[in-house]
Amino acid sequence: MNAPLAATLTDKRELSPDTALFSIQLEEGASQALSAFIPGQFVQLSVPGGGEVPISPADVPTAGGKLDLCVRRVGHVTELLHSARTGTRLGIRGPFGTGFPIEEMAGRPVLLLAGGLGIAPLRSLLFHLLRHQEQFGQVTLMYGARQPKLMLFREELAELAGKSALRLFLTVDFAPELPTGNFSCTVGLLPDLLKGFSFDAGRSYAAVCGPPPMYRCLMQELEEAGLPPERILVSLERRMRCGVGRCCHCAIGQKLCCTDGPVFRLSDLKGIPEAL
Ligand SMILES: Cc1cc2nc3c(=O)[nH]c(=O)nc-3n(C[C@H](O)[C@H](O)[C@H](O)COP(=O)(O)OP(=O)(O)OC[C@H]3O[C@@H](n4cnc5c(N)ncnc54)[C@H](O)[C@@H]3O)c2cc1C
Ligand code: FES
Repeated sequence: MNAPLAATLTDKRELSPDTALFSIQLEEGASQALSAFIPGQFVQLSVPGGGEVPISPADVPTAGGKLDLCVRRVGHVTELLHSARTGTRLGIRGPFGTGFPIEEMAGRPVLLLAGGLGIAPLRSLLFHLLRHQEQFGQVTLMYGARQPKLMLFREELAELAGKSALRLFLTVDFAPELPTGNFSCTVGLLPDLLKGFSFDAGRSYAAVCGPPPMYRCLMQELEEAGLPPERILVSLERRMRCGVGRCCHCAIGQKLCCTDGPVFRLSDLKGIPEAL
């Protein structure tokens, strides 16, 4: 197993009470390794005094080695990262796992469906699609959060929708007052947004990431709309240890989340009831 490569925490931007965007500067070796990154893959981030955690980069690393990680504070390692000062030395291994099949998606409309923190891995795919807009079809993002203040990257997404071909639909479970801008925002659940939405199911791809309860309803809506399971891509999370297919800690039936995923085609998960 490769040793972690050196990196430095250079900036932290709060996105919600428990989630922040961390900018990390990779040193040369890590920067070179990460240049192979495909949106949807993950890295193993190590924080001094903590350990390693798998995180899906929230953007494609830049040529200069800047890496964005959007991390929620949930336990020991993520707490240490949130309390780290800029200048803290970190470790990075990766990229690991499968990414979204971006070459195959070329020329096709893409529908991104994100719930809560699920926007993090989809943000790197969204940026890739928009930066290479001429190679892809219409890009639509549907993003659901519990409340407007918990909606990560809201201003950034609204700005993107104003100056690119992105179609943005937001939904919240609860809001006394709905936000307005270059997007539609409704009160309801993500599958409700899909109900009245017309799209070219014969050609589109869907990329989905969010909390576990969201998946089943969304999969049903997408399949009922006529999207074949081969073109429904889901990014899954399991507790991991080695991250490279050795410990079986992240098993999903006969598959391993760290090497067969985290991005799976729905067709590959049929017959594994615990997958979704
Ligand atoms: C492929 C992949 C990509 C990920 N990308 C991101 C990301 O972009 N941003 C982000 O904030 N988090 C992401 N995670 C989750 C992140 O790895 C965990 O939150 C982190 O490992 C928790 O470590 P901790 O030491 O802070 O918490 P711990 O002290 O280890 O655990 C705290 C709590 O979190 C739960 N938990 C820990 N890991 C997971 C997991 N993988 N799935 C579900 N529950 C878990 C534990 O059961 C416990 O209840 C990703 C996980 C995977 C597998
Ligand atoms: S985390 Fe060890 S096999 Fe996946």
